[in-house]
Amino acid sequence: MPALLLRLAGSPRFQAWAARVPLLRRISRAEGAAIFDLVQGFVRAQVLAALVELDILAQLKSGPMLPADLAGGAGINVDRMAILLQAGAGIGLLRKGRDGRFALRLRGAAVLAVPGLVGMIRHHRAFYDDLADPVALLRGGTQTQLSQVWPYVFGAGAAKDPARAARYSALMADSQALVAAEVLAHVPLASAKRLLDVGGGTGAFLAAVGAKYPALDLHLFDLPAVLQGAAARLGPFGARVQLHAGSFRDDPLPKGADTISLIRVLYDHSDETVAAVLRAVHTALPQGGRLIVAEPMSGGANPDAITDVYFSLYTFAMQTGRTRSMDEIATLLGSAGFANIQKIPCFRPYIASAITAIRG
Ligand SMILES: C[S@@+](CC[C@H](N)C(=O)[O-])C[C@H]1O[C@@H](n2cnc3c(N)ncnc32)[C@H](O)[C@@H]1O
Repeated sequence: MPALLLRLAGSPRFQAWAARVPLLRRISRAEGAAIFDLVQGFVRAQVLAALVELDILAQLKSGPMLPADLAGGAGINVDRMAILLQAGAGIGLLRKGRDGRFALRLRGAAVLAVPGLVGMIRHHRAFYDDLADPVALLRGGTQTQLSQVWPYVFGAGAAKDPARAARYSALMADSQALVAAEVLAHVPLASAKRLLDVGGGTGAFLAAVGAKYPALDLHLFDLPAVLQGAAARLGPFGARVQLHAGSFRDDPLPKGADTISLIRVLYDHSDETVAAVLRAVHTALPQGGRLIVAEPMSGGANPDAITDVYFSLYTFAMQTGRTRSMDEIATLLGSAGFANIQKIPCFRPYIASAITAIRG
């Protein structure tokens, strides 16, 4: 962008002039609306949070309602419920009828249909509390709420509570259907015989893989407190399944798999931990064995509107994590001894991108 244009864009006099000139007026209005959208982003998210928290979207599934129909159950007076519903219509989740009743729009209905999204929105309270003072968060020095949600960021010793493990594992498992769909659409596993999913939670990814590839052996490695929830999910796969309890920061990974996956694992951890995990994976794989890494990735040289904003700040607020670009992950893979590194952009990069590599 030429310096002169940047100077003009920053000049109130130029902006006032541009707002009067016919063609420039349209550009200036669109740009103004885009800027306002940035300013109000938090407010939009909080309107969505209130609609979810009060179960308004779910209630409207049964048909259009007046503010008065919803106010009592929510414990909010009618006028305030009207403000919330009007805002919900303003952000495109609801439609307001001529009779004053509010109905779900397609996007409002879709929020309910996306697996795990409602749970994620509810859980954003911790993230948005951490972001309430973004400068303090960036300066660091305080323990964040998100790091309490994901206790393993402080090591396996901090992650022994089964109740907490069950909470975060459910959050992950609910959204795993989308991730598995992306990965399986882009990474064929037909030649694999045994897959070890490291940090695989309660086995939602393995269950999706196992359904698509009936001859594949399914091995899961995660912390002991997490694996308690895996047996029920993977039970139907019978003898094809084996669970391995351990910490990839402290214990060697089991050998015998020709393919290892790390799905939404690396972005939780520091470069040092990631380097150690990749070395452990390299050691566990046979020569020619394949590693699959999948998670939301930074746009790197081309900053991305979602992964470089939401995921970067989220993983930063977890305290040990980092949303890395494909190039950064490829470099880490190369340093751990992997070859034939393939970057695989997926259809929805805000769900996951994938990288595969071969143990040379
Ligand atoms: C963000 S979750 C992702 C779970 C699953 N792969 C998915 O995509 O739904 C990260 C997983 O890594 C596991 N994990 C974290 N630290 C670990 C460690 N030191 N050893 C083994 N697993 C660990 C967590 O228990 C959790 O299940």
